[in-house]
Amino acid sequence: MSVVITGATGHLGRLVVEELLDRGHGADGIIAAGRDTDRLSALAERGVRTARIDFEDPASLKAAFEGADTVLLVSGSEVGGRVPQHRNAIEAATASGVGHLVYTSALRADASPLTVAPEHKATEEIIAASGIPHTILRNGWYSENYAAAVQQGPRTGSIIGGAGQGRISSAARADYAAAAAVVVASGEGHGQIHELAGDTAWTMEELAARVSEASGSPVAYRDLGEREHRRALTDAGLPEALVDMLVSTDQAASQGWLEEDSGALSRLIGRPTTPLEESVAAALSS
Ligand SMILES: NC(=O)c1ccc[n+]([C@@H]2O[C@H](COP(=O)([O-])OP(=O)(O)OC[C@H]3O[C@@H](n4cnc5c(N)ncnc54)[C@H](OP(=O)(O)O)[C@@H]3O)[C@@H](O)[C@H]2O)c1
Repeated sequence: MSVVITGATGHLGRLVVEELLDRGHGADGIIAAGRDTDRLSALAERGVRTARIDFEDPASLKAAFEGADTVLLVSGSEVGGRVPQHRNAIEAATASGVGHLVYTSALRADASPLTVAPEHKATEEIIAASGIPHTILRNGWYSENYAAAVQQGPRTGSIIGGAGQGRISSAARADYAAAAAVVVASGEGHGQIHELAGDTAWTMEELAARVSEASGSPVAYRDLGEREHRRALTDAGLPEALVDMLVSTDQAASQGWLEEDSGALSRLIGRPTTPLEESVAAALSS
């Protein structure tokens, strides 16, 4: 069985390829696809095939997907430009006769107020309209999204934000990658929309407490509310688009949009998701 993984030069896609190899999937049945194939050389050395794709270049997608049984479309990283890019990939998969398209979406993409959600919702709609057999992995928040805050905590004594008491069911990228590997390599969960998230939800106060314990330095969470949070990020020199994204994400978190307690992710991967403590320790040691 051959499977194309897009975004294999990125964090999640690479982990999916590694997870497939670890699960005994034949390397010659994996096509790791990315814009810069030089960055796929470590995977190529393990026998994985590589393909150059650009979501802006339909011919590259068609060539890479030809003959593949499954395509894992890892959502692109060019926020604001992803709908036409993903459409190119979906059209190429359909034209190439791919048997199963798996897409990494976002938690409750059809209703979420997260700024990234509308592009995922639109992509899901294009996939549904295409008629291609498909599975949607609505990935929750990565624990790694907090790595910079975790690293900064012991230096400044605080972690700032606007998430209030909102609970966040994050999981490690490796957990989402394992779920994607299960779905692309087995018959499990096909044709479904999976709302995937970590087993244990936490608040920003709890994150700060975990950072204090792990670092041995007192770290407190300072909730700034929307206006102050925006001002602090702007004063720190962050670009306006990123400030908008971070502020609105925390607002959504404060309203519970990053919480999910279905347990679907750990059921799919057959093990508990990575505890927050482990992700905090990994961030502090990197
Ligand atoms: N759930 C979450 O918390 C969360 C957080 C951040 C992002 N995400 C989403 O999840 C995706 C995977 O996460 P990640 O951590 O692996 O992100 P990442 O490391 O930034 O990887 C993104 C991948 O998309 C590829 N890509 C971007 N534009 C492309 C194009 N025009 N044509 C072909 N490939 C293109 C990148 O290729 P290059 O290496 O060539 O740039 C890279 O391989 C992200 O792209 C984003 O959509 C989710």
